[in-house]
Amino acid sequence: MKKDHVFHRDFNKDYPLIEKAEGIYLIDNTGKKYIDASSGAVAVNIGHGRKEIIDAIVEQAEKVSFVHTMRFETQIQSDLSELIAKLAPETLDTVYFTSGGAEANESALKLARQCHVGRGNQKKTKILSHWNSYHGNTMWTLSAGGDNKRRKLYKSDLHDGIIHEFPPYSRLIEDDKERDDKSFGKDRLRRIEETIIHEGPDTISCFILEPIVGSQIAALVPPDNYLRGIRELCSKYDILMIADEVMTGFGRTGEIFAVNHWDVVPDIITFAKGVSSAYLPLGGMIVNDAIAETIKNEWNGKFAHGFTFSGHPLSLAAGKANIDYVLNHDLVNKSKTQGIYLMDRMAGLKHKYNFIGELRGKGLLIGFEIVKDKKQNVAFESDFQAAEVFNKISIKNGAVLYPGQGEINGEKFDHILLGPPLTITTEEIDELIKIIEKTCDEYFDYLEKTENEDGLLS
Ligand SMILES: Cc1ncc(COP(=O)(O)O)c(C=O)c1O
Repeated sequence: MKKDHVFHRDFNKDYPLIEKAEGIYLIDNTGKKYIDASSGAVAVNIGHGRKEIIDAIVEQAEKVSFVHTMRFETQIQSDLSELIAKLAPETLDTVYFTSGGAEANESALKLARQCHVGRGNQKKTKILSHWNSYHGNTMWTLSAGGDNKRRKLYKSDLHDGIIHEFPPYSRLIEDDKERDDKSFGKDRLRRIEETIIHEGPDTISCFILEPIVGSQIAALVPPDNYLRGIRELCSKYDILMIADEVMTGFGRTGEIFAVNHWDVVPDIITFAKGVSSAYLPLGGMIVNDAIAETIKNEWNGKFAHGFTFSGHPLSLAAGKANIDYVLNHDLVNKSKTQGIYLMDRMAGLKHKYNFIGELRGKGLLIGFEIVKDKKQNVAFESDFQAAEVFNKISIKNGAVLYPGQGEINGEKFDHILLGPPLTITTEEIDELIKIIEKTCDEYFDYLEKTENEDGLLS
């Protein structure tokens, strides 16, 4: 166990000390180089060490580094709000800033409630969401999220009034064949409508969801009719639709926002990570005109919420320079084209290795499962920590991936998420694939060894 002054994420772990980061690479204090194939936590979309962002932060710091938005505002707040509003679907025109994703989602849940109360619907308090989703680690966002592992410790304290639906993917009920069926999305939507009617539409405030699920079911893309169907249900029953684009926003999936893949316009989009590529903490929400008008007209212009660091000028400067970088370097399109290439190369590995199960995703958000037997669709026992082990070997070989576990009940089915910087070149993808292939070979050896020692694979 470590004994220093840091409250580590895991006191048992030895963390490499990263001293330099450039483009897709991290370099530690021994000079070892790692491909950052997960962009941190799928956040550093433009890659590391971009001078443009650092210069913009310094320039802003030399002008004004902080004001409290209860008393003052800054030009950078107007500039970045205008830029984000221009990129968002047409009716989403007003931008609110936070310091990260959980704060953004917490703000959106509160705003939905305040909006309904302002419109005279006091009873609209419940929140619809999905199992196997992640919306943050504050108590309300943890409650709304669907990660059983994270929720377990706090079970008795989680908020009432969250209605969890299964996402359009569930090994609990459906098998692979049914998931490919066109009627699958429709079926799911019908179940959701039944839930809404059963709970009472006049009691439901909002539906928060990840358009493409990130960390909980590595890059799950819904059936084509699904998000549009959710939009229709939300409109029909006066439920506000909140698209959590914390991971998918600003180009990650090959569209500026993931909802654009299906031309769906939610009432609120929340964002973080890719808005500033994590050069400084930044998040927020883009709100539609009707909600903004309700706050202006029914609440005397005041949202009953706010943080000290909302609209922090340095974070906003990083955000503005980062989005300029994304647009100037055509990174949304690059995410699409390089995503196709990475997916194609991964399909080759899936074909070669029996333990690579389902492969899925859009743009440069790609997930694959690590399974015991893909033909029979069998998962490793959760104690086996299949994805963690795979990532450990990969880090040794020089590529950092994003492992996860728990597609069934927070426990079974392991997966790896790939989310490299959107700047990744074809040669760099080839280099990454080489490392993943080496990792697969060593993982195969590891499986053989554990089978012999423990009979784990018997
Ligand atoms: C979809 C989604 N929502 C919310 C969050 C929480 O963001 P943060 O860690 O910035 O609070 C994350 C973080 O991984 C996420 O992926």
